[in-house]
Amino acid sequence: MTDHVIVTVEDGVQTLTLNRPDKKNALTPEMYAALADGIERAESDPKIRVTLFQANGDAFTAGNDLGDFAKAGATPATQSNEKTPVARFLENLATAEKPLIASVNGLAVGVGVTMLLHCDLVYAGASSTYQMPFVNLGLVPEAGSTLLLPRLVGLQKAADLFLTGKKIGAEKAEAMGIVAEVFADADLRAEVLTRAKTLASKAPNSVKITKALLKGDDRSAVLAQQKKEGEHFGAQLRSAEVKEAISAFFEKRPADFSKLS
Ligand code: COA
Repeated sequence: MTDHVIVTVEDGVQTLTLNRPDKKNALTPEMYAALADGIERAESDPKIRVTLFQANGDAFTAGNDLGDFAKAGATPATQSNEKTPVARFLENLATAEKPLIASVNGLAVGVGVTMLLHCDLVYAGASSTYQMPFVNLGLVPEAGSTLLLPRLVGLQKAADLFLTGKKIGAEKAEAMGIVAEVFADADLRAEVLTRAKTLASKAPNSVKITKALLKGDDRSAVLAQQKKEGEHFGAQLRSAEVKEAISAFFEKRPADFSKLS
């Protein structure tokens, strides 16, 4: 249990609210576990028809906690059959049969963006921003995003986002198809909850089948891509590139990769 993810259920909508605002809702293993549990709960509880991700504070999420990345990078890789909380969360996102909705306030970074590629409806506050700085951190993208993003926005736009790590705003994200609709920041939460409740009131099997048809038959391809990305991610996490990038973040200086080959 963590109070960094608040779980509520109302009118068929399970809301998972990220609640670590002082750290821009950076995600810890406990938070990933709570999010993974939430998706599993929705799948097995007939009273839950829709899961909604939202966040407290001025950020959706700054992505994975960089301190945790640094710790993981300092630990030798182990062969364990037990899935990590993040792996469970990413797999659950890819396999959920019931709808997932995201309400993106403020900044979304890293997994804060790649998780959106699995959501059936992504609604955004007008001032929200989207950035995937995996390469800036010496890492590689995850969550199956190297398959899903180019499919959604085209190869050039995906490469532009992944290789440069550039930040885009809500309007651009909507034009690219990452976001369904943009609302004034002050209206976002209420507008999205209304939409989530409306979706939760619809015929549940019709909704599930429609979601499955929209997603196509490529769940196994997405999971295979997650696995491939995960292997590279784990290796990079233990690299000098990541060590330099994360030290630079906490030392509040630009990373210097010039001496690395
Ligand atoms: N992991 C751990 N801590 C994080 C974090 C992260 N991903 N993102 C932000 N924080 C912490 C900061 O260290 C800071 O903590 P402190 O108050 O104890 O110093 C606090 O959250 C506020 O962040 P700060 O950097 O002061 O806010 P900002 O508005 O100037 O910048 C970001 C916000 C998100 C642009 C910046 O924090 C950032 O670049 N974070 C890293 C994002 C990232 O690379 N995520 C991983 C993607 S794969």
